[in-house]
Amino acid sequence: MQLFVDSANLDEIKKVNDLGILGGVTTNPTLIVKQLSSTISSNNPNQKDLLKQILKISKVDILAEPISPKFDDIIKEGLELVKLSSNIVVKIPMTQDGICAVKELKLYGKRTKKIIKTAITLIFSVEQAIISALAGVDYICPFVGRLDDIGQNGLDLIKDIMTVYKNYNFKTKVIVASVRNKKHIFESSKYGADAVTVPYKIIEEMFNHDLTTKGIEKFLSDWAKVEKKGYNNIKQF
Ligand code: E4P
Repeated sequence: MQLFVDSANLDEIKKVNDLGILGGVTTNPTLIVKQLSSTISSNNPNQKDLLKQILKISKVDILAEPISPKFDDIIKEGLELVKLSSNIVVKIPMTQDGICAVKELKLYGKRTKKIIKTAITLIFSVEQAIISALAGVDYICPFVGRLDDIGQNGLDLIKDIMTVYKNYNFKTKVIVASVRNKKHIFESSKYGADAVTVPYKIIEEMFNHDLTTKGIEKFLSDWAKVEKKGYNNIKQF
């Protein structure tokens, strides 16, 4: 299983990379706008500038979205994005234009002998996941949190997609997206999802357990007793 960070924030991506556990990065227009609008710069930075900085941090796959929903523009913007690096994966919303663009980008890759990786995002049903796999997309991003938000169980979708993908040996990888809590992560891993993409705040939470904190406190307090009294004077051991 891989852990992607769901962020366009350079500090957050760097922190996860420094831990040695970064499997990839997912961005979307919302995350890019959030990051760029909080960056004070006179150079009027854009998505490509930000992606260039992310690419300097790590050699993992970085999912980046063309903004336009129209086929021609998806291709144009997608090709601009992949010029940055073969680590850029063109992430496209689940529409007929998007699925046609996956095919076109693959053909372009073959013609030019370049590897162009694609992802289909905003997956909310098994049918959408099947279409994406049949189109030969490299990754899909099913959104669990947004399904929970409308009263459905987002994790049921992951369970069903993994069952269908296994039945037909589909090669498309499943990155569980819209992760809101640790349960989304461990349940996804039980269903065999290839990856989860997780906001930095929740990655931090993954480290924590009350008993770990208490255990460290006890190690330190026991050690402090020895340092103060010497080994021979510690009775409770
Ligand atoms: C990832 O690819 C998605 O862009 C992201 O997980 C969406 O999460 P949200 O539903 O919290 O916006």
